[in-house]
Amino acid sequence: MIDKKDKISKEYFVNITPLSKIVIGDCLEKMKLLPDRSIDLIITDPPYNLGLFMKNRGTNIKGMRDNHFAFSGWDDLDFASWSIQMELFLQECHRILKKRGSLIIFMSIIKVETIINLAVKNKLYYKTVGIWHKTNPMPRNMNLHFVNSTESWLYFINDATTGVFNNRGKVIHDFVESSTINISERKYGRHPTQKPLTLICHFIDLLSNEGDIVLDPFMGSGTTGVGCEVLNRQFYGIELDENYYSIASDRLKAKK
Ligand SMILES: C[S@@+](CC[C@H](N)C(=O)[O-])C[C@H]1O[C@@H](n2cnc3c(N)ncnc32)[C@H](O)[C@@H]1O
Repeated sequence: MIDKKDKISKEYFVNITPLSKIVIGDCLEKMKLLPDRSIDLIITDPPYNLGLFMKNRGTNIKGMRDNHFAFSGWDDLDFASWSIQMELFLQECHRILKKRGSLIIFMSIIKVETIINLAVKNKLYYKTVGIWHKTNPMPRNMNLHFVNSTESWLYFINDATTGVFNNRGKVIHDFVESSTINISERKYGRHPTQKPLTLICHFIDLLSNEGDIVLDPFMGSGTTGVGCEVLNRQFYGIELDENYYSIASDRLKAKK
C-alpha cells in the first residue's frame, strides 16, 4: 500500500528519488501539469484495448492467470472510446514534447494503423513501426495455432523529421529481440504486461542523452523509470492504479 507521504502524489508529481517524479491519476489529466515543450522523450505502453476484443470473439480466458490484462478492467473500452482517449493522449504528447523530441508507443500489431493515423493528424512525424520479438512467450494453445510472440512499437518525432539517435556508428534494426521479464524484475510485485528492462533501456539509450527528461504516462510497474535511473535520465511517471504505482515506487528506489 502507498504510505502517507506518497498520497500527496495524487495532486502533483513527487520525487521518489533524485531523478524520478511520479503521480497517481489519469494521464489525460496529469499530463496537463507538464509545461509545453518540456519533455525530450516519451516511452510508453498504453492499454492495447484487446480485453473486450478477446471476450467478444469468445477467446477462452478462463485458463489464463488471474492478473492477465483481459481481467484488469482498463483494457476493455469499446474501440471508438479507446480511439478518442488515444487521440487526446497524442494531442498532449505533441504539446509537451520538445521540438525534435521522440515518442515510442508499444502497441498490438492490429492497432498500428489506427495509432499512426491519429498521431500524424496531431503533428507527430511518423518514423518507424518495429517489432519486439519475445524469445520465450507463454506457449498457450501451441497445438492449435501460432504462438503469439510479437508486439509492435511505433516511433514518432515531434515537429521535425529527425531527433536524437545515438547509434554510435552501428546499424540498428527495427526488429528487437529479448526474453520476457526475469524473476528478479518481479521482486516488487506482479504487473500483467510488464516490459523487460533491457528492452526499454535499448530505446532510452538510443533516443535520449544523459540528463534528458523522459516521461511514461502509462507507467505500470515503472520499467521506463527504472531504465532512466540506470541510464541517468530524469523521469516523470503517471499511473492510474495505486497497486502498480506502489510497485513502481519500490522499483525506482531499488533501481531494478
Ligand atoms: C500496458 S501497462 C504498462 C506496463 C509497463 N510498461 C510496465 O513495464 O510495467 C499500461 C498501464 O497503464 C495504466 N493506465 C491505464 N489507463 C491509464 C490512464 N488513463 N492514465 C494512467 N495510467 C493508465 C494501467 O493501469 C497499466 O498499468
